[in-house]
Formats: sequence, C-alpha cells, structure tokens
Amino acid sequence: MGEPRLRPDFDALAPETFDSPYPLYRELRARCPVARSDAWGGFWAFMRYEDVSQAAADAKRFTTTVQNVVPKVAFTGRRPPLHFDPPEHTPYRRALNPLFSSERMQSLEEPILAISQRLLAPLIAQGRGDICLDFSTHLPIQVFALWMNLEDRDAAALATVGRAFNVAVQANLDEQVKATSLQLYALAREVLARRRAEPLDPTLDPTCALLAARDDQGRPLPEDLLIGCIRQVLVVGIIAPTVLIGSIAIHLARDQALQQRLRAEPHLIPTALEEFLRLYTPYRGFARTATAPMVCHGRDIRPREPIALVYASANRDEAQFAGGDCFQLDRPNIAQHLAFGRGAHRCPGAPLGRLQLRLALEVLLRDTRRFHLAGPIVPTRCPEIGARSVPLSLEPA
Ligand code: HEM
Repeated sequence: MGEPRLRPDFDALAPETFDSPYPLYRELRARCPVARSDAWGGFWAFMRYEDVSQAAADAKRFTTTVQNVVPKVAFTGRRPPLHFDPPEHTPYRRALNPLFSSERMQSLEEPILAISQRLLAPLIAQGRGDICLDFSTHLPIQVFALWMNLEDRDAAALATVGRAFNVAVQANLDEQVKATSLQLYALAREVLARRRAEPLDPTLDPTCALLAARDDQGRPLPEDLLIGCIRQVLVVGIIAPTVLIGSIAIHLARDQALQQRLRAEPHLIPTALEEFLRLYTPYRGFARTATAPMVCHGRDIRPREPIALVYASANRDEAQFAGGDCFQLDRPNIAQHLAFGRGAHRCPGAPLGRLQLRLALEVLLRDTRRFHLAGPIVPTRCPEIGARSVPLSLEPA
C-alpha cells in the first residue's frame, strides 16, 4: 500500500499541541493541497475546502468501502452505514434519519438539560474540574443511551467498552481495537435480542427502526448487517462532542469578552456553536479511496490508495471562509461548514450533536460567572482533533 517512491510532504506522526496543526494545515493548503504522508502505510490528504467537499459529495469516484478513516482501524467487520456506498447504504439511512427529527429532539431537550446540569454541578460546586475528563466524556454516552433507550447496564457497559475502544483507536493498538470492537459487537447483539423480545415503538427506538426497515426489494435487512449497524452507531457519535466541548471551553477561557457576551446574550449560542464547529471541527477527517486512477493538483492518485478528507483543514480554508483561523460570530456562509461532512455520509446525528452541545454550553455559561484555564491542555490525537483534558477554574453564578 502507498507510494514509497514519493517524498512525504508532512509528518502525520509529529507531536502536536492543541494549536499546532492549524498553521501546518494553512501552509499545506497553500503549498501542497494534495499532500502525501508516509505514516500508517502512506496516504493522501486533501487539504482544501473545494477538493474535500467535492470528494465527500461524490460517492462514485470516492468509496468508503475500503477505508473510512486514517489510520485504518483494525478490521472486525463491515458496518453500515459508514462502510457502505449508496445504494447499499441507503436503507440504513432511511431507517435512522427519522430518529433525529425535530419532534424527537424536542422530546429529548429536558432530559439532556438535566444530564448536563447533574454532570456540571460538582465541578461548579468545587470551583474547579476538567471539562473533558469530568464532564464531556460522560455527557455524550448518557445522551446516546437516552436516544437509544439503553437499559442502565448496557449504558454502563458502553461507557467502559466505548472508552476503551476509543483509547485503543487513538493509540493505534490493533489488538486492543479488535478486542474492544468485538465487545461492542456483543453489546449490539444483546441490544438487538432485547428489542426483538420486547419491541419498542420504531419511531422512538433506533434498533426497532432498523428491525422494521426494508431494502429496495422490500426484504428485511440482513441480520449480520443489522448488528454491524448498531455496533457502528454505538460509538460514532460519542467522541466528537467530548473533544469539541473541550475546544470551546479553551476558546472561551482565552476570550473572556466573548465568554461574557454569550453569557449575557444566550440567544447567540446556537450561532456561536456553528462557528465553533467550523473552527474546531472535532473529526479531523474521514477517509475515502479512489475508485479509478485520477490526477488532482498534479498528483497521481491510484485506486486503493487511502485519501484523508481533512475536514478540519477545509473548514479553515481562506478561499471559502475569510479569516478562516479566526472566530467570527456572523459569518454569512457558515452553513457551508463541513464539520458534519457532506454527501451520502453526512452525519445523521447532527441534530442530536447540536442539541447536546447547545445545552452543555448554556448550562456552563448560565451556572458560572466566569471560568479560566487552570492547568495544561492535553490535545487529542488522530482521527480527532481538539482537546481531551482541559482543567478549568469556575466561579459559580
Ligand atoms: C458534534 C457531534 C458530531 C459530529 C461533529 C459528527 C460528525 C460526523 C461526520 C463528519 C460524519 C461523516 C463521516 C464521513 O464523511 O465519512 C458523521 C457520520 C455519522 N455520524 Fe456523526 N457526528 C456527531 C454526532 C453524532 C451523533 C450524536 C450520532 C448518533 C447518535 C452520530 C451518528 C453518525 C452516523 C451513524 C454516521 C454515519 C453516516 C453514514 O455513513 O451515512 N453522529 N458524523
């Protein structure tokens, strides 16, 4: 795999700080928009907005069936919808999309608010805490368990195994990735068996919606792929909110004026959130593979060579977002950001992601008078980008 004859343009394994990837990405966008790294067996990286958005929208020329993330995660099975191209991919999205309707989101608002308050209260009472380790690692799992109607023991199992899986992926430890992925498969099987035995309303329960789904010929979805899909969904929406809440807290701790403005004018929070999603895109990128040879910015890309679509770079591209490295509350074209991807695989969970981020931010600002950084930031690693430990000092409101 890869092109050993090619000189690398950047070192994907170089140590990073929270801020250091962005100047490198800016330089690559200017100098080398289709960059080459020899890390992890070699891969291409699309850095510019135009190239990334076109590739994400073109499932015919760029498949997700070979590899959907760089570095490649140890294989434990094909999991829809992420590992499938349309039309095979379509029935899974048809089943899942309605579970993120605005009515469903409205019904989850109060319980998610309660979760946010419960998780933040001890940090605020103590006047200090790690917004990632003590808060945002827990919030998305509890929100997910609520959305998925998981029983307490399944939610507890997911908290432990899901975290171990993510740690193994970040450290690129193949054996641990496989072992934890198989545990997640076992959990998916249990959830499926429980729903078969005691069905819930398929308009309110993702597993039952998948059980009720039919393919284009009217047949039920195959058992192994149903399990694969539940297994996929179990971890896909958990780490992004964890990392992004950390990044937002850092930004607001560094910019006290913005922190006070959002506290005084909470109606601006949803707009600010979109800009935070652009500026601190938590999934650095997802991968595709070319289905036919292609030339892009003078680089020869061959089929089966992985291509990272670097959403975190595309979202700061000056050609698309003027002053792309800076926070700007009233960006006219903010709706075009790629934090949730584009095309067939665009995140179905965006409404749930936005809801929990908004409520978390509202509670954090409402229940504090101010907060500051109170220790070293620990950045996360590929495939995410952002913070994984952010110690704060917090003054109660
Ligand atoms: C801040 C929160 C989130 C962000 C930034 C995010 C981002 C993304 C991105 C960029 C993709 C596209 C992957 C690609 O291009 O290959 C994606 C896919 C997906 N996301 Fe999210 N996500 C978030 C939250 C969630 C939540 C809460 C859920 C579910 C509970 C979820 C479920 C999914 C699923 C199932 C896919 C696969 C879709 C497909 O392949 O068709 N996400 N997400």
